[in-house]
Amino acid sequence: MTTVDVALHASHADELSVWPASTVPLPCGDLAVGGVPLAEAAGAFGTPVYLLDEAEVRDRCRTYAHAFPHADIHYAAKAFLCRTMARWVAEEGLGLDVCSAGELEVAVAAGVPPERIILHGNAKSPEDLNAALRAGVGRVTVDSLSEVTRLAAAVGIHDEPVKVLVRVAPGVSAGAHEKMRTGTGTRKSGLSVTDGSAQHAIARVLAQPELELTGLHCHLGSQITSVKPYLTAVRRMIGLMSHIHRSYGYTTRELDLGGGHGIPYRPEETALDITALARTLRTEMSEGCAAVGLPVPRLLIEPGRAVVGPAGVVVHRVLSVKHTEAGTLVAVDGGTSDNPRPALYGVRCTPRLAGRLSLAGPARVTMVGRHCEAGDILATDVQLPGDIRPGDLLAVPAAGAYHLSMTSADNLVGRPPVVAVADGKARLLVRRETLDDLSIRDVG
Ligand code: LLP
Repeated sequence: MTTVDVALHASHADELSVWPASTVPLPCGDLAVGGVPLAEAAGAFGTPVYLLDEAEVRDRCRTYAHAFPHADIHYAAKAFLCRTMARWVAEEGLGLDVCSAGELEVAVAAGVPPERIILHGNAKSPEDLNAALRAGVGRVTVDSLSEVTRLAAAVGIHDEPVKVLVRVAPGVSAGAHEKMRTGTGTRKSGLSVTDGSAQHAIARVLAQPELELTGLHCHLGSQITSVKPYLTAVRRMIGLMSHIHRSYGYTTRELDLGGGHGIPYRPEETALDITALARTLRTEMSEGCAAVGLPVPRLLIEPGRAVVGPAGVVVHRVLSVKHTEAGTLVAVDGGTSDNPRPALYGVRCTPRLAGRLSLAGPARVTMVGRHCEAGDILATDVQLPGDIRPGDLLAVPAAGAYHLSMTSADNLVGRPPVVAVADGKARLLVRRETLDDLSIRDVG
């Protein structure tokens, strides 16, 4: 390799660090993911199209299993769910965290053993609770005082007690954005330790013969890149376990620390170090429990984004390029309807030209969507080749989590398909939403 080749190779490697590990640049300027060129996938399935790299999902499940050999790992289905995704994670030995009867149905239909499913939700509907009881889920996380009573009342007199975790807000605030932080009592999820509502709910669960308190749960927030908040949370959760033991002589045997593990969306960002997290939690749990004379509980974790986020790539087609006084606007055939994250959290994605080689110099542009919303902006001030034009393909990495699961039918555009890529083959998992799909609900 010449010096220039080495430099190019290094810049590719850096730029591709947030892409699935299988990603390779092709001589024609395109990229292949899972052995499938992006332009080929766009041609076969249309755009926008979401690709999910099966090997990347499976590798990430294995990384967790390896780092946490003694924990129960539940994939947080809200990050993205379809039957095949549920099957992949179950085959890798993970359970599932679901937060509605809908997610539960997909999980059960995919063959996930119900005892490996946890039902969450800050406000579960009667349908959610009944579906969970019918399916025989492994755990229900209770998140309000009234839910304790409602759940107990829904259990049949001849049924086994339902295994319950109490969702606690331990007073630790973490996460990349204000709207992603859940660990304090002022948020809608969790019962506060500070104002005593967690202790109250625990007392109520213990008083209900229909419910069996197996442990405590907390989820601090999302897109957390430091181990520190987890450490503080563990100390507080052990404090609460100790309080339960002192007050009722009852030992909780499970501690679920939720998910929230951060991933890089851009090359300069970092991921939460899973191995360091596992090591720190193990030490803290054994020392903390020894100090208060409690056995170490079984650890449960619920990563969503870190399992599926980096495995997803979205490909949009450019519909128009406008040169305005404020700069160049590159509009694509999707937007907030398939990726509401930039509008909701002000995050920026990193688009890249796919499908052709460009020798043009770089230009700073803003990538916008096609929706009738001034805020439908996907990426502000990003670098793309200066000759970007309608018909071009733009691909965005780290698109596997909280894009598709948060899609909407805005402007009745129809939601994009999901395609699994592996070993050079592309397989449709979820088909594109058509106008027929949309109009079928319009029965008036
Ligand atoms: N467990 C519970 C109880 C949760 O509420 C969540 C996420 C998770 C686990 C998984 O968190 P993860 O590992 O994926 O960060 N829409 C936001 C993220 C909301 C997360 C809500 N709860 C986003 O696009 O960033």
